[in-house]
Amino acid sequence: MRKKIVAGNWKMNTLLQDGENLAKDIVKASEAVRDDVTLIIAPPFTHLHSVGMILEGSRILLSAQNCADMDKGAYTGEVSAGMLASAGCSHVILGHSERREYYGENSGTLVRKLRIALENGLSPVFCVGERLEEREAGRHFETVGRQLEEALFALTREQVEKVIIAYEPVWAIGTGKTATSGQAGEIHSFIRKKISEKYGQPTADGISILYGGSCKPSNAAELFSMPDIDGGLIGGASLKAADFIAIANCF
Ligand code: 13P
Repeated sequence: MRKKIVAGNWKMNTLLQDGENLAKDIVKASEAVRDDVTLIIAPPFTHLHSVGMILEGSRILLSAQNCADMDKGAYTGEVSAGMLASAGCSHVILGHSERREYYGENSGTLVRKLRIALENGLSPVFCVGERLEEREAGRHFETVGRQLEEALFALTREQVEKVIIAYEPVWAIGTGKTATSGQAGEIHSFIRKKISEKYGQPTADGISILYGGSCKPSNAAELFSMPDIDGGLIGGASLKAADFIAIANCF
């Protein structure tokens, strides 16, 4: 059966020392979380190695927030999937709406990133989600469907089975405005149906689909109670160990 997952996306937050302290607090508090919940944290690049050392021997997995779409070479400022794996990462977030919106990431780039991450043994956390105007125009299914078709569906079945999907409606990210469990639940079911149409029901049933967007201890239990919501990708609330762990305790 598919995994229950709570992942913390720290975004561009915490200086190194603060990040290390946060990781230590999360490790300590994680002992109280049910064994069948997978915990992942995604600190900034500069913290990965030292946070990875702190996580050693703990149950918490390490993720990056992005990777290059090239293998190696003269790409100043980029960080490769191989580098992330060698620094201790098991996961990488790809296609976050902030990357799509502010750094021009499109489906073409994302296909390359997905493939290169998988080739280097990383499991992608692939993000999809509609903007406010798309939701208001009733085009949210169409937008999310297109994001899946253009990038994720370039992968083989074997590759897709290593991917975690995160549905993050852009209008809910960092706004305090959460999708209702009904709104999120119907898109999650739609995503799973699309995957089953492309790759078959067993593959669709095995893929974890996380919800992200102002998810916090007070609303996580209701969201996680929906049949196709397998956990959360948490931004702001993942920067406090107690809140992050409280969310993980919401299953
Ligand atoms: P918030 O939880 O801060 O809304 O961010 C969600 C998110 O973008 C996680 O990737």
